[in-house]
Amino acid sequence: MRPQGKVTLYKSTMGVCLWLFLAFMNEATATFRPRQLSPCQVVHMNVYCNDMNLRTVPAELPPDIHILDLSQNHLQNLTQEFLAFYTIHHLNLHSNKIQFIQPGLFRNMTNLQELDLSRNYLDIFAASKTDVGPLSTVKRLSLSGNGLYTGMTDFFLRDAPSLVNLSLDGNSITKISKDTFSGSLALRNIDLHNNVILEIEEGAFESLADLSELDLSTNSITCITDFNLSQLKLLNLSRNSLESFQTMDSDLEYELQHLDLRENKIHYFPVLPRKNKLLYLDLSRNLMRSVNTTSLMEELEYIRDGRFTTHALSCSKNAHNDLPRLLYLDMSYNQIKSISASFFRGLEALEVLNLSNNCLEAFSVDRSSPLDSLKTLDLSFNVLQNLSFEENTLRLLEELHLMGNILSFIDPTIFRRLPRIRELHLQQNFLSVCGSHHQRGHRSQAGDCIFFSSIPTLRRLYLSGNNLQSVPQGAFHGTSLWLLDLSGNPGLDIHKNAFSGLEPSLTHLSLRENDLPVLSTDLSLLSGLRDVDLSMNRLTTLPLWNKESSIEALNLQNNSLVTLEYSTVLALEKTLKTLYLGSNPLSCCGNLQFLHMVRRSSLDIPDLASVTCQYTQNSERKEMSIESVEQEHCETLDRKSLGIIIIIITALVLIAVLVLLSKICHPRRHRLRGSFKA
Ligand SMILES: *[C@@H]1O[C@H](CO)[C@@H](O)[C@H](O)[C@H]1NC(C)=O
Ligand SMILES: *[C@@H]1O[C@H](CO)[C@@H](O)[C@H](O)[C@H]1NC(C)=O
Ligand SMILES: *[C@@H]1O[C@H](CO)[C@@H](O)[C@H](O)[C@H]1NC(C)=O
Ligand SMILES: *[C@@H]1O[C@H](CO)[C@@H](O)[C@H](O)[C@H]1NC(C)=O
Ligand SMILES: *[C@@H]1O[C@H](CO)[C@@H](O)[C@H](O)[C@H]1NC(C)=O
Ligand SMILES: *[C@@H]1O[C@H](CO)[C@@H](O)[C@H](O)[C@H]1NC(C)=O
Ligand SMILES: *[C@@H]1O[C@H](CO)[C@@H](O)[C@H](O)[C@H]1NC(C)=O
Ligand SMILES: *[C@@H]1O[C@H](CO)[C@@H](O)[C@H](O)[C@H]1NC(C)=O
Ligand SMILES: *[C@@H]1O[C@H](CO)[C@@H](O)[C@H](O)[C@H]1NC(C)=O
Repeated sequence: MRPQGKVTLYKSTMGVCLWLFLAFMNEATATFRPRQLSPCQVVHMNVYCNDMNLRTVPAELPPDIHILDLSQNHLQNLTQEFLAFYTIHHLNLHSNKIQFIQPGLFRNMTNLQELDLSRNYLDIFAASKTDVGPLSTVKRLSLSGNGLYTGMTDFFLRDAPSLVNLSLDGNSITKISKDTFSGSLALRNIDLHNNVILEIEEGAFESLADLSELDLSTNSITCITDFNLSQLKLLNLSRNSLESFQTMDSDLEYELQHLDLRENKIHYFPVLPRKNKLLYLDLSRNLMRSVNTTSLMEELEYIRDGRFTTHALSCSKNAHNDLPRLLYLDMSYNQIKSISASFFRGLEALEVLNLSNNCLEAFSVDRSSPLDSLKTLDLSFNVLQNLSFEENTLRLLEELHLMGNILSFIDPTIFRRLPRIRELHLQQNFLSVCGSHHQRGHRSQAGDCIFFSSIPTLRRLYLSGNNLQSVPQGAFHGTSLWLLDLSGNPGLDIHKNAFSGLEPSLTHLSLRENDLPVLSTDLSLLSGLRDVDLSMNRLTTLPLWNKESSIEALNLQNNSLVTLEYSTVLALEKTLKTLYLGSNPLSCCGNLQFLHMVRRSSLDIPDLASVTCQYTQNSERKEMSIESVEQEHCETLDRKSLGIIIIIITALVLIAVLVLLSKICHPRRHRLRGSFKA
């Protein structure tokens, strides 16, 4: 009782405190808002009236506002009468229906830094050919989504000397003329994304000495010649119709760091500034056939000797690409057929090279341009047949993607030569795996298998869909594999010591879709195993697991399992969290103990709804969901068989009695006969 009393006392003191605090807060805020306000929310000097169906600016707002948010209303006309806030810093008018602004309205807002007029009807205002007046202090202006077309921005930008960030995205501008920005020379960041720009007049951006980011993505620009915006740091030209990109020939030092040319129609590697600081270059989804640069776009294709030959009729510079700081180069989704090792000479800092989805037949790296900073190389989905890395190249490579090629006979020790390799993605090729004691271990020559053993850094290996025949003994010995994917190799023969050496490290193992009738490998030796996928095989029994199993997820879907050995299930139960079991011919009454376990434990069976089991009733084979199997169901089955047994026993007893009776009768007759004889 006493402690309870104390608690109530404490609670009531808290209540008093809270009440006093609230009362104090009321007093405090009352000084901030002398009048009763409109529905707007007021926090200090910031007023939020967004999304309130307003047609006019509420009349009762305090005069000394810093932030005024009137976005998502129905304002049409902006006039002095309603918007006389001289202290305002940030005015948000996003998503209204503004079509009229009183000229000079912003003149006396001498603190106004940010003005958001996006998503209004300012094309109507601009059509009246009136200037909005000076925006002397505005640093950030958004005019996005206003249906503005060429020339209309002039009415807003003529007198905006402090403007730093300008958003014009989502309008209908087709041309940037040379004086579009002549009234806003402080611009640093211009967003012109999603217009229909076809033409940029010479000198349009050159006068903007501080311009650092220019977004021209999603427009209709077809060609950039004599690029000379040396002050730019980021240029986004993705999603245009560019056929070429060429920098003015000069020794000027360019500041450009990010160049995005993704999704255009570029045929040749762009002509980039000779002196550059490029870090990031995206050329993916273009039409490049080679990495040659050319300064003239003429290309002749004709048939000679029945073969296609491509001629570049041009002063093909075959430029030495010096991109000494470039970290990221994406050329995926082009039509590149070959890439000479010399192309990599100027790419000393490159960390990520993506050449996936091209038409490469061979790829090699030699010592003259060793790509010694490269960490990730993606060559997936080409038609690679030949692959070679000279000794002492690719010394930092960690991830190699070779999925979807036609690799079969390559140097067996090629991957041993990559001292930092962690991930090998080799799905969908025609590779075979050598055992650790394979004969031709030390000779580097094209062999019929590849060594994966003795690569101590290797953590992930993907070999699915290689038509692998076998995984020999010790195939991965001397690696620290954490994940091994051998799925999709039907008929795979796995040696019982195939995984030796992986005991402490292997955590994820996939043997899915391998058509395995039985697993002879003792997976219980892999003490670190957490996740095993054995689905889509023909297993009839569970592989044996000892008591120390640490498996958390097990996929047994689509096998031929009838009964799950209860001892194995018990061994798994301690750690198992997720079990897939669908599409197996499970027996209902043969797995009662297991089914009990499922109900008792917190085991998750994600495909439970589709897990069925089979039983025989009236000599008919039937199926039901394992969820609906009841003990008594199997008991009734038992009772029936008991009945049959009782009938049989009764019959047998009856027969025995009859036989006995007949035997008792016969000797009597015999005796009678005997007595006759006697
Ligand atoms: C805005 O101004 C126009 C004329 O400039 C007028 O026709 C219209 O009614 C005004 N709208 C509002 C909501 O005041
Ligand atoms: C701006 O302020 C000046 C005086 O500071 C005043 O004369 C002028 O009328 C004001 N303009 C507007 C549009 O309020
Ligand atoms: C300008 O915009 C960029 C990106 O849109 C942003 O990172 C930067 O902080 C903005 N600068 C100013 C002064 O608002
Ligand atoms: C860039 O080209 C324009 C027009 O061709 C020229 O006026 C300007 O001086 C050039 N700028 C630089 C930095 O070379
Ligand atoms: C370029 O613009 C596209 C589309 O707006 C965007 O997805 C991409 O991230 C931008 N690239 C860079 C480097 O900012
Ligand atoms: C690229 O340049 C190399 C070296 O000059 C030349 O052998 C090759 O034919 C060129 N490729 C194309 C497609 O022009
Ligand atoms: C390479 O590019 C493709 C397509 O753009 C992308 O799907 C893949 O993730 C990239 N590879 C790497 C390693 O980033
Ligand atoms: C691949 O290598 C073999 C033998 O070294 C060679 O005969 C063949 O021409 C090469 N193929 C390509 C596409 O380079
Ligand atoms: C089971 O796997 C076989 C191929 O191994 C496939 O044809 C079949 O559709 C799968 N059945 C289910 C129910 O997933």
